[in-house]
Amino acid sequence: HKKITKVCCLGAGYVGSPTSAVIAHKSGDLQVTIADISTERISRWINATNEKELPIYEPGLFDVLECRGRNLHFTADIDKAIEEADLIFVSVNTPTKKKGMGAGFAADLGYVESATRRIAKVATSDKIVVEKSTVPCRTAQSMRKILEANGKPGVHFDILSNPEFLAEGTAIKDLLSPDRVLIGSLDNDRGKSAAASLAEIYANWVPRERIITTNVWSSELSKLVANALLAQRISSINAVSAICEATGADVDEVAYACGLDTRIGPKFLKASVGFGGSCFQKDILNLVYLSESLHLPEVAAYWKQVVDMNEYQKSRFTKRVIQSLFNTLTGKKIALFGFAFKKDTGDTRESAAIALAKNFVQEQCQVSIYDPKVEEQQIWLDLSEPGVDSSLTEAKKYVTIAKDAFEAAKDADAIVIATEWDAFKDTELDYEKIYEQMNKPAFIFDGRLILDSKKLEKMGFKVEVIGKTRSELSFE
Ligand code: NAD
Ligand code: UDX
Repeated sequence: HKKITKVCCLGAGYVGSPTSAVIAHKSGDLQVTIADISTERISRWINATNEKELPIYEPGLFDVLECRGRNLHFTADIDKAIEEADLIFVSVNTPTKKKGMGAGFAADLGYVESATRRIAKVATSDKIVVEKSTVPCRTAQSMRKILEANGKPGVHFDILSNPEFLAEGTAIKDLLSPDRVLIGSLDNDRGKSAAASLAEIYANWVPRERIITTNVWSSELSKLVANALLAQRISSINAVSAICEATGADVDEVAYACGLDTRIGPKFLKASVGFGGSCFQKDILNLVYLSESLHLPEVAAYWKQVVDMNEYQKSRFTKRVIQSLFNTLTGKKIALFGFAFKKDTGDTRESAAIALAKNFVQEQCQVSIYDPKVEEQQIWLDLSEPGVDSSLTEAKKYVTIAKDAFEAAKDADAIVIATEWDAFKDTELDYEKIYEQMNKPAFIFDGRLILDSKKLEKMGFKVEVIGKTRSELSFE
């Protein structure tokens, strides 16, 4: 197989940049260029002199960017980056389609297609094109047709699928020591040789036995299925949390007892206010759409329920807040602790906190939001409807953004924990001081099971926790 010396990555986002940075960091003899259509994003990657100035927050990311300027480069000159590379990762966004056929379910492959067309148009030498974006099963086929129909005579393209399994907040750790690297290729000599070239790059730091190869379609489908299975565990435990609240069982105890069974395992069984993030919902809906397209309605309905349960969890939690606060939120103040979809990221895509904030605003409640990493501008973007100016004015009537937890909770009737930031734990934050400044009775709704409720109850708080008995029901 061919030894790769130059790699390019199209898409300098949450996946493209950390992945390429780790590849460059671990492969000194490889030149890696990350290209993006957003010149603004590229200049932030080039010019950031510290962690805070990077376009995304990800622990450890700034350290692996030490190779910037040496064998890691960022550019907005996409054509030059394509032309020079032997291997090209396509790591562009694949959001859920908003309009047209499959709207609300199917993946919008417009960005993948335009990146592919660009490669076909520009390339004057053979390229290995790697699908890094999460795509529906059989997208590689479409990419191949586009490349073959538009490429220059004599230029050959090989397509690989190499889905990314990193999770935000732990991206660098996940990339440095992945459970597996999956490479899908066509089952012929050229395909296998291309897969071997890519495997050689990962082998710079990943043990060979963790680099697995499959056919392209299995690889594409495995990514959707891995996310569906992970999200399914969360929806399952969240469904159980509803039973716990009504019976006196404790969801943490149930998860622990069940998770000790090695066949079940302890991970991804933390009940919550609902999963968020840019992947789970999008990828399950993608799987649902695929199942429907294949005339498998029962299969589609089975996976769709994972997303429906997640929506139910968010509205169920909202209802519990309203009921506990004497059935009205009008004129009250809620401090929303956390806006990111999970801790250790500034990303808010599909964050449960967005749904909660909107629900509270609907009830004409003042909401004060504090998150350690989410930028203020992002919160306003998430709380307003795109293109509707009045929606921002409306949001600003009810929502304020606080500089810390104390400011958010001042004169509030309740605290709602939406993100599990360590800084919100009762071992980190002075809840006694917060309690003094709140309206009484002062409520805390723990949507992430991070607090010691007994300790907070002793301070005077009324504590309501997902998956634990509601205080109006007592089974003692
Ligand atoms: P992102 O929106 O952060 O980044 C995508 C980038 O691609 C943007 O900066 C955009 O400007 C750029 N882009 C779009 N079209 C382009 C083109 N033609 N040429 C060059 N650049 C172009 O998205 P992301 O979160 O990095 O996700 C990328 C893909 O990876 C998606 O398919 C996603 O499903 C998948 N994925 C994401 C995660 C995650 O945790 N975010 C994890 C695994 C897989
Ligand atoms: C996910 C997959 O984990 C990753 O492999 C894939 O590449 C991209 O999608 P990500 O969305 O970044 O990663 O974060 P993840 O840790 O999976 O959390 C997703 C959501 O589920 C978060 O809102 C998180 O708070 C929630 N969650 C996670 C729970 O509610 N309970 C859990 O037990 C685990």
